[in-house]
Amino acid sequence: MPPESALWVDLVSRFAKHVSIAGFGLVQSPMFEDIGVFQRVGEGTDIVTKEMYDFEDKGGRHLALRPEGTASIVRAYLQHRPQRSPWKVWYVAPNFRYERPQAGRYRQHHQLGVEVLGSADADLDVEVICLQADFYAQLGLKQVRLLLNTMGTSADRARYTTVLGEWLADHYQELPTQDQETARTNPLRVLDSKRAETQDLLTGAPIVLEVISSEAIEHFERVKEGLEAAAVHFEVEPRLVRGLDYYTHSTFEFQALALESAQNAIGGGGRYDALAAALGGPDTPGVGFGSGIERILLAVEAEKILADVSGAPLAFVVDTTGGRHAREVVLEARRSGLQVDRAYDRRSMKSQMKAADRSRAALAVLIGEDEVSTNTATIRNMRGDTPQTSIERSALIEYLRNQQ
Ligand code: HAM
Repeated sequence: MPPESALWVDLVSRFAKHVSIAGFGLVQSPMFEDIGVFQRVGEGTDIVTKEMYDFEDKGGRHLALRPEGTASIVRAYLQHRPQRSPWKVWYVAPNFRYERPQAGRYRQHHQLGVEVLGSADADLDVEVICLQADFYAQLGLKQVRLLLNTMGTSADRARYTTVLGEWLADHYQELPTQDQETARTNPLRVLDSKRAETQDLLTGAPIVLEVISSEAIEHFERVKEGLEAAAVHFEVEPRLVRGLDYYTHSTFEFQALALESAQNAIGGGGRYDALAAALGGPDTPGVGFGSGIERILLAVEAEKILADVSGAPLAFVVDTTGGRHAREVVLEARRSGLQVDRAYDRRSMKSQMKAADRSRAALAVLIGEDEVSTNTATIRNMRGDTPQTSIERSALIEYLRNQQ
């Protein structure tokens, strides 16, 4: 709600500009999809198996509210087959996850994100990560850490899953009971466990870099080299798996260190070269990121970055003659692109001045019987004590324009 929502508007418009410069176009994808779109991309994840809002519509279709943006974008790509390659798109969209709500974790959250489809070039991993890092930097966020990992090719990922699964089977008794089932059904998810005993045990587990192919190592080296050349600082975190199952090669997460650790991921993403095929399309490599708007705003607040997006008007018109003049001046000013406001309901001079004060307008334009009879307006500076000036009504808009 206003006034906080002004920060939201500012954030989205800055993002739109930031990614447009890099050649991304907006995609507006539907809020719900056939449930299969999501089931096929994350059968082993909490996001898909436990947190998805799904329902049957009046036509008997089984639908799900979008828990994340990437699968919908890939579905749209496969359906519409855009000619441009690579296809570079961005989005701002709500996502729905049935989680336990708390600060920074909501059942409806909103993401700013980008996806690039149609190229396996590691330079695009670099481009996407830099785009995200630069966005946070431009907002003024300083306490941000970038964690980077690779999952290798699809075959590497499968091999690593087996290797890790076998290792976990050998250490089954040492795992907390809550993680034992996960170790059996989806070994990679165990790396994501928040339990300290599990994390301690995992220090001895095989890491993905020991298992992946030379092709994947080469891709990873190219990404790291690109990030170093771009002066984007990162830490390789071999246990970073992230909450979705579709990643191959690069995976990454940006954490805001000013936020509490359970909800400090302000954004994340990676490459998903096998996702299009999993959705029944031809092999189409892709890479992208999503960033939670609510979390970015929490980080901005935690780092006390004061964005001046107050939206205060330039002038507030105080008309004590019944409101007709306020109506005319406000309309004319707004048609000239000036931010001007007024009070309604024929309020008293005192009450209108209070409203002018509250609006934090720089100027008050006073119109009373005297001004009407002389065809003028009186300008009062609301910040400081410069004397009032009288302006011809016909010169008022020009005067206000010069005060911007
Ligand atoms: P994700 O890591 O699940 O990735 O979500 C991306 C970001 O959305 C998180 O880093 C976080 O900032 C925010 N977020 C997620 N869940 C919540 C929640 N419950 N409340 C508030 N904020 C939340 C994805 O969704 C992938 N689609 C990202 C991606 C794009 N990968 C490739 N391309």
